[in-house]
Amino acid sequence: MNDRRTHSFKELNLLPVWRQKSNHSERDAQSQEESSSVLYSAEDNQSIEESDQAAWLRLKQAVTDCFRCQLSETRTHTVFGVGDENADWLFIGEGPGAKEDETGEPFVGQAGKLLDKMLAAIRLKRGDNVYITNIVKCRPPGNRNPSLNEARQCEPYLMSQIELIKPKLIVALGKVAAQNLLKCDDSISSLRGKVHHFSDIPLIVTYHPAYLLRSLPEKAKAWKDLCFANATMQSLE
Ligand code: URA
Repeated sequence: MNDRRTHSFKELNLLPVWRQKSNHSERDAQSQEESSSVLYSAEDNQSIEESDQAAWLRLKQAVTDCFRCQLSETRTHTVFGVGDENADWLFIGEGPGAKEDETGEPFVGQAGKLLDKMLAAIRLKRGDNVYITNIVKCRPPGNRNPSLNEARQCEPYLMSQIELIKPKLIVALGKVAAQNLLKCDDSISSLRGKVHHFSDIPLIVTYHPAYLLRSLPEKAKAWKDLCFANATMQSLE
């Protein structure tokens, strides 16, 4: 288990989950020394998969059982996230709305429909090489922005998701997601159009689909952001 994962899982009391295994560079160094040794045995690959599965299950259960902040008092369902658990693309919104709280799935309301269209515009589809989640996993009452403390309490869950998914690119949807991920209070207009990093993962900022529903002229800018994200992904491949 890497240090970051150990840290997030420890914070969530999810240890022990993982079977210790050497990382790529250790394996590479080892293979140079022992040229006849096998890098990955079938058994090792199997154990990694099982560990990932176990980690996902524990993480999902931890979110379902979470009472770390006051959002847990008013939620109907926690909204963990949805999609391909090995996705290259990770889209992160702000927090569940009414429909999401009702169903337990992110981005299923009007904003979600627009997000699906945005994904389709760059030939992506929910669940297919795409994972969608939020900064906070419970609905802030009245759809207010999550507080700093609420976002902080939920952060280890998001960190663990990111560590398990290992996306190539993160797209932050809206100001709340961008500011929480980048730990800044810069405006969305100043954050757009650049490749930022979350840990070592490239991160691009665009408007939240709910904002685009209210501000139709900004859709053209969001389209530009998506093309930029797509080009960035291609440069990573
Ligand atoms: N807005 C969000 O930020 N996330 C959702 O899941 C739904 C609406």
